[in-house]
Amino acid sequence: MAPVIRPATAADLPAINEIYNFYVATSPATFDTQPVSLDRREAWFTERSALGLPVLVADADGEAGGWCALSPWSAKKAYDTTRDESIYIADEFRGRGLGKALLGAVLQEARRLDVHVVMAGVVACQEASLALHRSLGFEQSALNLHMGYKLGSWHDVVYLQRHLWREGG
Ligand SMILES: CC(C)(COP(=O)(O)OP(=O)(O)OC[C@H]1O[C@@H](n2cnc3c(N)ncnc32)[C@H](O)[C@@H]1OP(=O)(O)O)[C@@H](O)C(=O)NCCC(=O)NCCS
Repeated sequence: MAPVIRPATAADLPAINEIYNFYVATSPATFDTQPVSLDRREAWFTERSALGLPVLVADADGEAGGWCALSPWSAKKAYDTTRDESIYIADEFRGRGLGKALLGAVLQEARRLDVHVVMAGVVACQEASLALHRSLGFEQSALNLHMGYKLGSWHDVVYLQRHLWREGG
């Protein structure tokens, strides 16, 4: 059955943060190295709400099993048509199609918002994330070497772009 994707509410923020902080502690998927506090997560959510940027969650077994959001790529004004995408699925719900459904839904929101380009920065060792993004039409624009040091290793970052403007939007 297709997962239910819906806009996040304030009630989802503890789950969103728990999902994210698991990867902060265990994975180079995010270059944060310290857990994000709930206060900081609430400020993050308020900022996106004020900018009209989507924060979507996928329901799994009656709870938020993953989330995907768009953020500003840069504060500089001419970048307003470019957005940065983030996606995290709870470890226990990975591989069940939540990521693909969430990213597809965020791309739909991006089209609705007339976003021109969606960016994704993916750590080069994250095969699942690279496969997910490529399966939804993201194309590699750069491979930047040794961009961060985490969990005892240097990590390269693949930058991918989804060119919504090529769809004629
Ligand atoms: C990467 C992530 C978002 C994928 O979400 P998911 O729900 O596990 O993935 P899905 O089940 O929707 O599968 C999506 C695609 O990725 C591919 N994929 C999933 N797991 C994979 C794996 N372990 N290895 C290779 N490809 C994989 C699938 O083949 C699928 O493509 P297809 O349906 O066209 O065949 C999720 O695994 C995750 O949160 N990982 C840890 C955090 C992370 O890396 N976040 C991204 C930061 S940029």
